This record gives sequence, structure tokens and C-alpha cells, in this order.
Amino acid sequence: MSRVLLLGKGGQVGQVLLRRLTAAGMKVVACDRRQLDFEQPAQIQTLVADLHPQLIINAAAYTAVDRAEVEITQAQRVNAEAPEQLAMAAAACGTRLMHFSTDYVFDGQSGIPWREGDNPNPLGIYGQTKLAGEMAIRQMIPDQHWIIRTAWVYGATGPRNFVKTMVRLGQTRDRIRVVCDQVGTPTWTEDLAQVVVAFVQDGDRVPPGTYHYTNSGVASWYDLAIAIFEEVRALGIPLMVKEVQPIPSQDYPTAAKRPFYSVLDCQKITALLGYRAPHWRVSLRTMLSQYLEAGQS
Ligand SMILES: NC(=O)c1ccc[n+]([C@@H]2O[C@H](COP(=O)([O-])OP(=O)(O)OC[C@H]3O[C@@H](n4cnc5c(N)ncnc54)[C@H](OP(=O)(O)O)[C@@H]3O)[C@@H](O)[C@H]2O)c1
Repeated sequence: MSRVLLLGKGGQVGQVLLRRLTAAGMKVVACDRRQLDFEQPAQIQTLVADLHPQLIINAAAYTAVDRAEVEITQAQRVNAEAPEQLAMAAAACGTRLMHFSTDYVFDGQSGIPWREGDNPNPLGIYGQTKLAGEMAIRQMIPDQHWIIRTAWVYGATGPRNFVKTMVRLGQTRDRIRVVCDQVGTPTWTEDLAQVVVAFVQDGDRVPPGTYHYTNSGVASWYDLAIAIFEEVRALGIPLMVKEVQPIPSQDYPTAAKRPFYSVLDCQKITALLGYRAPHWRVSLRTMLSQYLEAGQS
């Protein structure tokens, strides 16, 4: 049985990972900010040395994309300096580190799905700090890391996300404007967790390196909003929303610039695991039925 140290257990990815790794028979020590604050790097070395895990999974991150433009120091500490400390601790113990990163390391200027080896060029502080974290890990532990870049993540549990926000707005507003010129792939936490479990179980077969994983297919935020409302109505749940208006990004100004084309090429992971990611619409349907049947908390 693997002994796993999971960081960021309260996040939307962390919560699902804790449940699924435990269900798969792994012994998981899971921490949130109270047990390990990424802004206090000395704690990281001590915790890892004390626990001596066989694998560290880092699901903690500073994910407030717009706030990062002003809270630069915090984003840098959590997304870049803490992962570097984790890599140092992993090196000292001979432990492998799994770390998550983002489509926002790319500038979205290409119309071709981004491959792992493509040149990153982040548009904002969040992407820049996540890229710095990746680079530190690669440099420190070239043979002991898995970096999984994912995108547009949503789940039933954990903090707010686009899907849960749209369900709420659809129930309370009759008109909603949604950006239609940013394109990516919505990714359900449960599908991402399935891949993580496969990595952990097949550890020896999975070479170190960077991997892209999202659900399959492509959507704009507008497409996703329309799909959410269709699926909610198909479940027999009434909505107030009557009009969903597609708008360009320039009509919805945000502090951080976002990439226009954020689709990740996931062929490397598909070939490795022999596993084809479900289409985003299929996973969205399953998530919404579970979320709404559970009373959307
Ligand atoms: N969400 C997305 O759409 C998306 C897209 C691409 C990649 N990713 C990546 O996927 C990973 C998981 O993201 P997620 O969606 O699960 O994020 P999330 O829901 O925002 O969770 C992030 C977790 O990090 C913790 N954290 C933040 N600052 C911390 C600190 N100083 N010390 C310790 N813990 C701290 C948070 O704890 P608190 O709850 O206490 O704040 C939270 O539990 C991240 O690496 C993220 O960059 C996410």
C-alpha cells in the first residue's frame, strides 16, 4: 500500500483525490492550509522529512486568477516557491512529486491544441507563477516528478466554479451574458482523479515528465453555459434564465488577460494509459445529475 502525502485537501481537486485515493486502498495523509501553510516554506521540509511519504501530491495552489494580478507575492509564494520547496524535500527523501499546472501557461494565440513541449508564454501572474513552479520542479527533480497540466476544472464539491455559478445564476436571473471567444475543454474533477489514481497504481510504468489531461472535446464559456442550462432543464429542474447572450472578452473586462485558445493536446497521456477521456458534455451531464440530486451544496 502506497503512503501518499496529499496537499490542498480542501480544494476541488484535493477533495476528490482524497476520496478516490483512499477508496483505491492507499494510505493518505492529507493536509490543508492549517496543517501546512505554503506561505511558510520551512514547514514543508519538516513535514515531508517527518512523514517520509512514497509520493507527494500537490493539489494546493493560489488559483484566484484576477486577484493574483495584485496579490503577486502570495501567488508567487504558493505557486512557485512552495513547489520548489516541495521538490527539494522530495529530492532529500527520494520521493516522487505529482504537481498540477494549468493551460494558462500558454498564451492561447495558436489554434492548434497545445502539446506538452510547446513554448509557454503566460499572459498573467497566475500563469507566470504556475510556470515558475513547473520549472523549479523540473530542474530540481528531473526524474522524480509528474506535472499534470489541466484546464477549466469543475466539480460538485469544493470552492466555487463556473458550473456551480451558472446553475445559481440560471435559477436567479432571466438574462445572462457569457464570453464566447475563449475556447477550452471543461474538465470534471472525477475524471481527473481517475487518471491520478491510474498514475499512482501504475507508478513504475509512467515515466517522469509533463502530461496534459482534460476531458475531450472543445467549448467556449458560452457553449458551456448553454449546455449547463440544457442539462439542468433535462433533469426537470426549472430555471429562471430566458436569454443567454454571447459576448466577446472585451465586453467582460477582467484584471488578468486569458488565453483565447486553451485546448490541451492529451494524446501523450491517452497513449500511455490506453484511456480516452470522456467527452466534456457526457461528464457535465453526470456531474450535474449527482450535484442537483444531492441538493447542490
Ligand atoms: N480550477 C481550475 O479551473 C484549474 C485549471 C487548471 C489547472 N488547475 C490547477 O489544478 C490544481 C487544483 O486546483 P483546484 O481547482 O482544486 O483549486 P482550488 O479549488 O482553488 O483549491 C486550491 C487549494 O489550495 C489551497 N491553498 C491556497 N493557498 C494555500 C496556502 N498558502 N497554503 C496551503 N494551501 C493553500 C486552498 O486552501 P484554502 O481553501 O484554505 O484557500 C485550496 O484548498 C491547482 O494546481 C490549479 O492550479 C486548476
